[in-house]
Amino acid sequence: MKSSMFTEIAGVGLKNPFIMASGTFGFGKEYSRFYDLNELGGISGKGLTLHPKAGNKGIRVYETAAGMMNSVGLENPGVEAFLAQELDRMTAWDTAILINLGGGTIEDYREGAALIEADRLKRESEGRRGADMIELNISCPNVKEGGIAFGIDTEAARRVVREVRRATKMPLAVKLSPGARDIAEMSAMCEAEGADAVSLINTFSAMKIDVRRRKNVFANGYAGLSGPAIKPIALRMVHQAAKAVSIPVIGMGGVCSAEDAVEFIMAGAHAVQIGTYNFVNLRAGAELVRDLAAFMEEEKIESLDEIRGIIA
Ligand SMILES: Cc1cc2nc3c(=O)[nH]c(=O)nc-3n(C[C@H](O)[C@H](O)[C@H](O)COP(=O)(O)O)c2cc1C
Repeated sequence: MKSSMFTEIAGVGLKNPFIMASGTFGFGKEYSRFYDLNELGGISGKGLTLHPKAGNKGIRVYETAAGMMNSVGLENPGVEAFLAQELDRMTAWDTAILINLGGGTIEDYREGAALIEADRLKRESEGRRGADMIELNISCPNVKEGGIAFGIDTEAARRVVREVRRATKMPLAVKLSPGARDIAEMSAMCEAEGADAVSLINTFSAMKIDVRRRKNVFANGYAGLSGPAIKPIALRMVHQAAKAVSIPVIGMGGVCSAEDAVEFIMAGAHAVQIGTYNFVNLRAGAELVRDLAAFMEEEKIESLDEIRGIIA
C-alpha cells in the first residue's frame, strides 16, 4: 500500500503536512546544510516587519524543563530586503513558501502585505515563482509592535485581517495567539473576514527570574514559551479552532514526533508546523516526514483525510 501525505491549504498543495515554523528555521539556508529541504511540506520564514528590526537586547533564548523561552524581538531585514535578497533562494526549493508578516500598526501590516502582493504580481508577469502564502502574525508576544495587541481581542484583530485581506489576493493564513480571549471566536472572525486558513498557536507569554542576580533573565521581563510544555494546550486550541471554522487549520505547539503531528491532524489540522524541535534535532523535518510515512504504513492509513478531525 502506498500512503499519501499530501495536503492542501488554500489551493497550495503540500507534499506532506510538515511546515517549519516561523522564527525557528531562518529563511532555510542554514538548515539546507543538514538535509534536502525539498522533502518538506513547507517553510514559514522568520517573521518580517515593514522596516528592518534589530531585535531585543540581552538574553534571547533560555531552555526550560520542557521547551524553551525566547525574546528575539522580531529581528529581521524588513520586507523589501527579504523580497530582494532571500525569496529567490527559498522559491528554488520545491516546497511551499510562507511569508510570515508582523507589524506594529494597521498601516504597517497593510503596506507590508501590499509590497508582498506587488512582488508576486511582478514575478508572475516575468514567469518566476513567488511566495505561496502570507502568514499574518498577530501574535508575537516579544515586541510591543509584534502584533500581540491585535491578537488578544477579536475586534482589534478583525481590523488587521480586513485591511490585509484588502491589500492582497494571495492565500492568507492568520497566526493566532494562545492569549486570544476566545480562540473559537477569533478563528471564526478570520474566516468571516476572508482568511484562507488559521495557524495556531504562537508562544505563551512567560517569565524567568535569575534568583542570584535578583533580576529577570529577559530584558523585556517576559518571553515566549514554546516546545513540549505547551503541546497539550495547543492541541486543545487547535481542536476548538477546527470546530469553529471550515477553512484549514495549521496546528503547532511542541510537536516533536510523527505521533505528535498525528494528534494535531486527528484534532482537525490540515498541516502541522515544527518550531522548537528544530533546535533539538537539526534534521527534524526529514525525520518527521520519514516517521509519518512509516506510521501511516503501520496503521494502514492511505491518506491523511482518513484521520483528519476524527476526534469529535
Ligand atoms: C526562537 C523563536 C522565534 C520565533 N519567531 C517567530 C516569528 O518571527 N513569527 C512567528 O509568527 N512566530 C515565531 N515563533 C513562534 C513559532 O513559530 C511557534 O508558533 C511556537 O514556537 C510554537 O511551536 P513550537 O512549540 O513547535 O516551537 C518563534 C518561536 C521561537 C522558539
